[in-house]
Amino acid sequence: MSITIEKVTTDSELREVAELADKIWHECFVGMISYGQIDYMVEKFQSYEAMQSQIKEQGYYYLAVREDGELCGYIGLKPESGDRFFLSKLYLRSDKRGRGIGAEMLERVFAEGRALGKKRVYLTVNKHNDRAIAVYKKTGFEIVDKVVTDIGNGYVMDDYIFEYVL
Ligand SMILES: CC(C)(COP(=O)(O)OP(=O)(O)OC[C@H]1O[C@@H](n2cnc3c(N)ncnc32)[C@H](O)[C@@H]1OP(=O)(O)O)[C@@H](O)C(=O)NCCC(=O)NCCS
Repeated sequence: MSITIEKVTTDSELREVAELADKIWHECFVGMISYGQIDYMVEKFQSYEAMQSQIKEQGYYYLAVREDGELCGYIGLKPESGDRFFLSKLYLRSDKRGRGIGAEMLERVFAEGRALGKKRVYLTVNKHNDRAIAVYKKTGFEIVDKVVTDIGNGYVMDDYIFEYVL
């Protein structure tokens, strides 16, 4: 197996990521949030148009994770002012999990942060996302806070904030 993690630079790659995000989110959040909220969040945060605007207007960038050339995961990142680096998205297709690819993705996140001179990586994770929480704890992230975010349409995100010191 050969894993590559490369920056998304073209519109067609971003469309590919949006298509994968739609699939992964409709699998991994089932039981955690309602179908209505999944649809709403995918449209608001992970549609092609939403990601294009994050990239153009908010300083985000995305990395595509491929195994033997096939897209199977993605990472969304946002360098912020000061010493913090925001890990906005970390998603891997279900059939690829549990084999160390997630660990490789996180190592890449840390390398990106260090290269930019950042001192800390932070992320938000749904309080019921047990697997991701276990992965973050195993990797050395620590809970530093919790936050409830109103995302509109009557929906909220009920999250822990995790931080990793680089
Ligand atoms: C989060 C995610 C990217 C991790 O990828 P993964 O391939 O499953 O992770 P890995 O197999 O590389 O495991 C990473 C580390 O966590 C550990 N780990 C994995 N599952 C674990 C569990 N249930 N309990 C404890 N440790 C666990 C692994 O042993 C590994 O540690 P090591 O590198 O010291 O051996 C993947 O599970 C995913 O996409 N989940 C669904 C989407 C999601 O919830 N994303 C996060 C949103 S905030």
